[in-house]
Amino acid sequence: MKNQSCLTLCLCFFLSCTPLASGFSLLNGIMTKSNGVVVVGSANQDLTSYTNALPVLGETVMGDTFETSCGGKGANQAKAAASLGLAPVTMVCRVGDDVFGAALLQDFDHKNVQYDRGDTILKDGTASGVATIVVDNPSGDNMIIVTPGANYALTPENVDAALKKMSDPPAVVVVQLEVKYEAALQALKTAKELGAVTVFNPAPAPTKEGALDEFFPFVDVFIPNETELRTLCGRVGDNSVNEEQLAKDLLAKGVNKAVICTLGARGAMIVAKGATDKDRAKIDMVCAPTDLPANKDPVVDTIGAGDAFCGALSTYLASGLDMVDAGNLACGFASMSVRRLGANYPDPDELPEILRPESLSKKVATQSNP
Ligand SMILES: Nc1ncnc2c1ncn2[C@@H]1O[C@H](COP(=O)(O)OP(=O)(O)O)[C@@H](O)[C@H]1O
Ligand SMILES: *[C@@H]1O[C@H](CO)[C@@H](O)[C@H](O)[C@H]1NC(C)=O
Repeated sequence: MKNQSCLTLCLCFFLSCTPLASGFSLLNGIMTKSNGVVVVGSANQDLTSYTNALPVLGETVMGDTFETSCGGKGANQAKAAASLGLAPVTMVCRVGDDVFGAALLQDFDHKNVQYDRGDTILKDGTASGVATIVVDNPSGDNMIIVTPGANYALTPENVDAALKKMSDPPAVVVVQLEVKYEAALQALKTAKELGAVTVFNPAPAPTKEGALDEFFPFVDVFIPNETELRTLCGRVGDNSVNEEQLAKDLLAKGVNKAVICTLGARGAMIVAKGATDKDRAKIDMVCAPTDLPANKDPVVDTIGAGDAFCGALSTYLASGLDMVDAGNLACGFASMSVRRLGANYPDPDELPEILRPESLSKKVATQSNP
């Protein structure tokens, strides 16, 4: 009796104290049932006018076509994470009490993204975030105005309370920069306090080198694209230093586990810390599985590709995959998204076998029993 309760106690201690990487896959099954992915970030209504000639200052022109779509980096990442159907996904954001807010929340409902309705809708007249986009048909060039509105009303106190009141502590918390810096930083701090793995995508990239230094100690997985990585390191246009070295510099600045630089069609580079600080960084290139059925389709647009990668990677980590497996499958998911128009992600029933975590264990099983 005594031994058994001691064992239970030790096991509980071990499970609750094992952060990620090492014992994380041990939690596989337990984690995926309740502890999911939480995205703290933006939701915007995109309003796009396509025109055959852009207006000059003071001019009115006739548009050709008009489209609306639900976007915002936070919302996109949450929808990508939820579309794998592997873990519950919750969005912490703010929208206005207006038609756009209603549309954004309805979109979450359709995509299986959970949120707290009472907290999410602002009742003080603040407008929902909108992106007004004008596309010049002949050239494809665009002009965009993002008006954050309700997104900037999300306070650090809101974020802290939202994460702490969840009945199951999140396994992974994902943050970007379309909300106020203080809110993003608080999300990372509270997530670490709750024992979650933190994923941070520094988009849109701050223009000042070193702007995110105070974030790094609270970031486990840092995911910039090439532009963002160079901007943050003050190396825009300086090809004397490669991405690998810049990623190592950020690990030295305090990022806890890994810097993953996304590289467009080339996939992504994972630069991970060794088991002890003295170890050398481990470098892995990840890319979409070569036998992914979508690979044969043409690339139509890369809008939301980075968001697809960040969302999918977070869900795969929450499902217990290690960083490299999660990276490869997330590239596969992002590769599917660039073969669809806009930030549109496959539904769980459209997810090919090869992007399901079970396919990895099958592969390992067949490899070890030929
Ligand atoms: N042309 C492409 N073909 C296949 N996959 C792509 C392509 N462009 C992007 N991806 C996938 O999307 C991920 C993010 O793309 P990237 O262009 O680096 O980010 P961002 O959207 O921030 O510009 C890449 O790591 C890759 O997996
Ligand atoms: C990286 O993301 C930024 C947004 O932060 C975007 O403006 C830029 O075009 C992206 N760069 C690449 C190389 O994809």
